[in-house]
Amino acid sequence: MLIEELKLKNFRNYSELTLHPHPGVNLYFGRNGSGKTNLLEAIHYCSLGRSHRISNDANAVKNGEAFALSSVSIRNSLGQREIAVRFHPDETQKKSILLDGKKIAKFSDMMGCLRCVIFSPEDLGLIKEGPSLRRRYLDMMISQINRGYFIALQQYRTCMDQRNALIRNLRANSYADTSMLSAFEETMAAPAAVIIRERRRIVSLLSECARETYQRVSDTDEVFRMAYHSSVKEETEIEEVLCRLFRENREDDIRMGFTSVGPHRDDLILTLNKNQMKQFASQGQIRTAALSMKLSQMQILRDQSGEEPVLLLDDVMSELDRKRRACLIGEISSFQTFITCADRDDVDCEKVDKMWMVSADAGEAKVEEIQNSEFRIQN
Ligand SMILES: Nc1ncnc2c1ncn2[C@@H]1O[C@H](COP(=O)(O)OP(=O)(O)OP(=O)(O)O)[C@@H](O)[C@H]1O
Ligand SMILES: [Mg+2]
Repeated sequence: MLIEELKLKNFRNYSELTLHPHPGVNLYFGRNGSGKTNLLEAIHYCSLGRSHRISNDANAVKNGEAFALSSVSIRNSLGQREIAVRFHPDETQKKSILLDGKKIAKFSDMMGCLRCVIFSPEDLGLIKEGPSLRRRYLDMMISQINRGYFIALQQYRTCMDQRNALIRNLRANSYADTSMLSAFEETMAAPAAVIIRERRRIVSLLSECARETYQRVSDTDEVFRMAYHSSVKEETEIEEVLCRLFRENREDDIRMGFTSVGPHRDDLILTLNKNQMKQFASQGQIRTAALSMKLSQMQILRDQSGEEPVLLLDDVMSELDRKRRACLIGEISSFQTFITCADRDDVDCEKVDKMWMVSADAGEAKVEEIQNSEFRIQN
């Protein structure tokens, strides 16, 4: 899978930009705040319809402008496609997605068209921080290989919002009607079971792959494992078990004002030699584990879809030591890759196919290609 063209209009600090990336390794370097991450964010929008950062869609629109556009021309095994995301915060529908020029009705229609994996310094939080980052890691990956999973996530979220609203109503007003709760719970249980089953399946593949990768990167025999930890322990009849759990937890949920069991509370447990990494891991082990999780994500996406995802590496080179950097570069050789860094020396230029300088002047970003001969001679 390749991005042949990226076009931006009023996106963040870009008024207008057209880029033709190389099918191999593309390096974008430039000073802090110049607009490097914005480029990767624009690609991420075309892949998953959302930013990889915690950011409101309206922020994607350049200050003072009414709309923004990020679009890519891609080539995959089925041919060429255009994916565009338009932002128009002042309209009722604030964002629209176009596939080959036609507006799509459902977000799920874009899933899997452009598969990507992003790795940024915040991903070190996958090991040490709360479970929401790990669930997001799984959800972003599985949605790109299984559209039904993405739809199940959306359905589950909608039903849970309805149940939570009813629960809060019951908390505020004990006369409210409880009969609707069972209906919401039954509707939640079906997509919840899809989510749990698929997360379990993918985690067992990921865990095996990450264990091997960890040993290769660290050059040790330490055993890194990932295990899916769910409130549902059973392997079968997950829907029935979930309905029972929702029912049993009603009283507590009404007291607390939210739904306390279900896949939205599950976690991915990471261990090294059977010790929980969250409590015991050193800084170096955290870096190796995060890198192994990302490299495994790439491999599983490729194996499950039959196509290589595009790889976005945002400022991670400076976070990795020489050995881990070399491992990462060695493993990405067959993927189209977009690397950003503040210092171009962070990446071995021999491995780079196309290099660009990103700069900003008076809040206006520009990207200039550095000719091959120029960057190879200088380095
Ligand atoms: N909606 C917007 N309109 C105009 N400029 C914006 C908007 N959103 C962000 N910016 C500008 O984009 C710049 C940040 O871009 P970005 O995060 O891509 O920088 P970067 O090159 O990745 O920096 P670093 O090396 O520090 O990570 C900031 O200067 C910010 O003011
Ligand atoms: Mg950045």
